[in-house]
Amino acid sequence: MKDIIIAIDGFSSTGKSTIAKKLANKLEYVYIDTGAMYRGITLFAMDKGLIVDSEIDKVALLEKLPEIFIYFKHNSSTGVAHIYLNDVDVSKKIRSLEVSNYVSLIAAIPEVRKKLVEQQQVFGKEKALVMDGRDIGTVVFPNAELKIFMTASANVRAVRRYKELIEGGDSVSYEEVLENIEKRDLIDTTRADSPLIKAEDAVVIDNSELTIEEQLDYILELVKNKI
Ligand code: C5P
Repeated sequence: MKDIIIAIDGFSSTGKSTIAKKLANKLEYVYIDTGAMYRGITLFAMDKGLIVDSEIDKVALLEKLPEIFIYFKHNSSTGVAHIYLNDVDVSKKIRSLEVSNYVSLIAAIPEVRKKLVEQQQVFGKEKALVMDGRDIGTVVFPNAELKIFMTASANVRAVRRYKELIEGGDSVSYEEVLENIEKRDLIDTTRADSPLIKAEDAVVIDNSELTIEEQLDYILELVKNKI
């Protein structure tokens, strides 16, 4: 058996990270959530007052970019990976709708992408990696042995995300969540640098009507043919 890189890309709230996490557990691979890294930088910009009226102070952000350290720490008792921004655990904070509202603007900045892509590529040195995001199969690991592209209808995605936020104690409306998802889809697919597109050799999974187990079984079959 050989170790491989599994790249999972797709639209917002398609359940990429849920599947990626389960897959990594099953294969005893490392899992990296690259969206969390873009969210970390977004939180930094918000905390420093660099986003005002949806406008980003790009010059100030780029100046501060070298001061931003994003990393993951595995909690061995819970088995959950936590994300740290300059030594503070921001795992919960980065999931807020406010961060979601700005993250695609931050992720469209080429210098931000360059910094994070370089860090992401280091995670792939040993292979045995499941990474999810928007440009993993196209930019970060164009030679990944297995590429998956996840999609689902915007309504299905909004319902899932809305439930998650409500269960986590956020007070948001379904309409706000749907609007955010549609807005992010648009920015992510139309930005100039590394837009969200399906890699030519990616396998598409529309999971609008699939359970998590069905998706996992299907991907594990694909993995079998690669290792
Ligand atoms: O995956 P998640 O929804 O947490 O990602 C948040 C945002 O980060 C995406 O909407 C996208 O703008 C950006 N992103 C990206 N490239 C990645 C991962 C995330 O541009 N590889």
